Amino acid sequence: MRVLGIVGSPRRWGNTDVLVSEVLRGAASTGAVTEKVILSSLKIHPCLACENCHQDGLCRQTDDMAGLLARMFESDVWVLGTPVYWWGPSAQMKMFIDRWYAPVHSKELRALMRKRVTLVTAFADEAPSTPQHIVGMLDDAIAYLKAEWAGQLHVTAGARGAVSHDPKAMQEAFDLGTHLAPVPAR
Ligand SMILES: Cc1cc2nc3c(=O)[nH]c(=O)nc-3n(C[C@H](O)[C@H](O)[C@H](O)COP(=O)(O)O)c2cc1C
Repeated sequence: MRVLGIVGSPRRWGNTDVLVSEVLRGAASTGAVTEKVILSSLKIHPCLACENCHQDGLCRQTDDMAGLLARMFESDVWVLGTPVYWWGPSAQMKMFIDRWYAPVHSKELRALMRKRVTLVTAFADEAPSTPQHIVGMLDDAIAYLKAEWAGQLHVTAGARGAVSHDPKAMQEAFDLGTHLAPVPAR
C-alpha cells in the first residue's frame, strides 16, 4: 500500500505537518510505503477556469501539479492535512483541490482519483464544529470522485507544533495511520 501525505499548512513542522507525519509513521509501521508533500514548497497555481482540460483532462499550466498528480495516481491512500483558516481549508489546500478539476475530465484519469482519503485538520478553537465546512466539502468531493473515506482526525492545537505535546492526539494520528487499508469483505 502506498500512502501519500499532503500538507496544506505553510508552517513547516506546524501542527498539520506533525499530525500528517505521525499518520504516515503509523502507516509505515504496517508496511506501507509513505511519502509526504508540502504544498507550500511546490509551485501550484490556481485553476484559471480556461476549460482547456475538458478535451483531455490535462491542465495547460506548467507548474508542479502534473508531477504531484502523478504521485497521487500511484498512491492508494491520500492523507490530506490542512489547518483551519476562517472555518475553511488553507489557500494552499484549496488551490490544490481546485486543480483536481482537470483530471476529472478524462475517463482514465478520473478513475485514478478513486482513492481512499484521510482528512487531518488542526485549529485553535475548542469547538469540535470548527472544521465542519472542510469535512462537508470533502464529503461531497469524495462522493463526486467515487473515492472513499479512510478516516479523519481533527485536533485543537494553536501554536506551532503544540500538538507534539498532546500525547492523545499523537496516538490518534499514529493509530489512524495503522488503519488506512480497506477492511477486507467477509
Ligand atoms: C489565516 C489564519 C486563519 C485562521 N483561522 C482559524 C479559524 O477559523 N479557526 C480556528 O480555530 N483557528 C484558526 N486559525 C489558527 C490555526 O488553525 C491554528 O494555529 C493551527 O494550529 C494552524 O495549523 P499549523 O500549525 O499546521 O499551521 C487561523 C490561523 C491563520 C494563520
